[in-house]
Amino acid sequence: MCGIVGYIGERTAQEVLLKGLSRLEYRGYDSAGVAILKDGRINAVKRQGKLSVLARELASNPLSGTMGIGHTRWATHGVPNDTNAHPHLDCSGKIAVVHNGIIENYLELKKYLKKKGHRFISDTDTETISHLIEDNYKGDLEAAVRKTTAILKGSYAIAAIHEKDSGRIVGARCDSPLIVGIGKGENFLASDVPAILDYTKEVIYLENHDIVTMTRSGVKITNGAGRVVKPKVSKVKWDISQAEKCGYRHFMLKEIFEQADVLQRILDERIRRGRIVFDELKLKESDLRCIKRIAIVACGTAYHAGLTGKYMIEEYARIPCWVDTSSEFRYRDPLVGEDTLVIIVSQSGETADSLAALREAKRRKAKTLGICNVLGSSIAREANGVIYTHAGPEIAVASTKAYTAQLAVFYLLTMYLASLRNTVKRSRLDSLVSQFKKLPSLMEDLLAEYKSDYNKIAAYAQEFKRYYHEKHNKSYFLYLGRNINYPNALEGALKLKEISYISAEGYPAGEMKHGPIALIDENPWVVCIATRSKTYDKMLSNIQEIKARGGIVIALVTEGDEEILHHSVNYLVELPAVEEFFSPLIVVIPLQLLAYYVALEFGYDIDQPRNLAKSVTVE
Ligand code: F6R
Repeated sequence: MCGIVGYIGERTAQEVLLKGLSRLEYRGYDSAGVAILKDGRINAVKRQGKLSVLARELASNPLSGTMGIGHTRWATHGVPNDTNAHPHLDCSGKIAVVHNGIIENYLELKKYLKKKGHRFISDTDTETISHLIEDNYKGDLEAAVRKTTAILKGSYAIAAIHEKDSGRIVGARCDSPLIVGIGKGENFLASDVPAILDYTKEVIYLENHDIVTMTRSGVKITNGAGRVVKPKVSKVKWDISQAEKCGYRHFMLKEIFEQADVLQRILDERIRRGRIVFDELKLKESDLRCIKRIAIVACGTAYHAGLTGKYMIEEYARIPCWVDTSSEFRYRDPLVGEDTLVIIVSQSGETADSLAALREAKRRKAKTLGICNVLGSSIAREANGVIYTHAGPEIAVASTKAYTAQLAVFYLLTMYLASLRNTVKRSRLDSLVSQFKKLPSLMEDLLAEYKSDYNKIAAYAQEFKRYYHEKHNKSYFLYLGRNINYPNALEGALKLKEISYISAEGYPAGEMKHGPIALIDENPWVVCIATRSKTYDKMLSNIQEIKARGGIVIALVTEGDEEILHHSVNYLVELPAVEEFFSPLIVVIPLQLLAYYVALEFGYDIDQPRNLAKSVTVE
């Protein structure tokens, strides 16, 4: 939700800021702007629309200067237009501020500032910050930012510059991410690592309530108590090429195709001499042996990974487990306490609802574990323990490789807990580990079948578009799965609706007769997950019921399944044979590809779907 950057050094700030913003566009893309300080004057340019609109404007009318701040927006307060775009200036135009987050008490602050004579021009909450800094400025920008943030309620990562403080950028954070990049004779500020990786790999992850003051030659950080702290500088291990498309048409497609490698990496890192190892876990084995229940809490795709995790954990580690969406968990009165392990799953590690759920669980004395992808993210730092998924940067808004990485971690965690609690025989565990190790190459072979754009699933997507128009846009998708693949039905539907804007629902197939079957006529396309499983025959009955009512069926089946041929399904996708327990990792691939190719057929913006942003740092 919004990306911010700041640069101070010798380079042309405009270039650095635009490049940084292009790497953060996944966070929001409805408007963008920069403010650059040159010869004691701030020049700000902001434009509604994608970053390319701003870039075109700046190409025709470049701004010179070697320090500045920039922003790419996902609108919360005020429609996307030039005025509401950041940076926001104070009354005098001497102060510029970019902000990611939501200021909850902005109306009250705005009233107070208006009474004092401040003139507002936008509908944003952010503009209150620039006027407050103006109000608090007595010749020291850092002090003014400190006084300002002390009265802000809500979440923020901000960067501010002042014409009279021409050698400094001041940043601050509370519940929205902000990192500092350390260069030689230059320094950077950003919402996320990819924005600065072209220039440096040395990063400081700021803590909540930290205030940073950056000059060309140094960085000073003071904590919430106002004490100067010695920051921990971390070295980013991955390369900027991982945040580039590398020849793929979209990040989403690239990330789908990376999944076999991601899985292999996770297995290489976590399985040593047949044993599962979580170096960074930090939770004591004795504690994990004693937990009586597990609550898995997450949003969106991560929630679906959590739902699959419940099936795994209950089957093998035999610990009662429930799954909540973070936004529900945080506002009810969940039954968690010292004997509960609360697992928060989050790719970004910054999702506001998941972070709040984590804090609620800690308040109730539960043991907490984050399963996160982004290193140094808030959830990873605040949970008692963390397991990183190490999927590399996920840029496409629709999550794919982070999902499979989360599933992989749940498999490993399940086996780890099962071994710790002796709930499964050693021989069975060894067999699970050895089957798991075969998954990356099976996934690789499966993906290889879809390397060309002229593949079977792309053809089905084309066929769907034709049918959709023939049916006067009344067609839509249903996804049916059972048991451990039921969450995949939800995930398949979510992927499709978020990038193709076509209605899609996921159901446990056994629920059809309790209502959804009323939907079936010739309009819906029903994706049935019918790979070999203990409920295979039941799924065949569901397929019959759908066909009998005129529905169009795409069946995902196990290679060599001849029985399915008697059921006159419309479209078939064959998948490699794996034990049902591991099948979610294979089944999800065609679901992701189907969503991708349908969106491609309809010509939508796949990596940046409307109304969405990658990292949901607001409620
Ligand atoms: C869907 C998607 C979202 C995220 C959700 C949680 O493709 O990406 O549903 O899964 O917003 O995000 P994280 O995992 O960052 O907490």
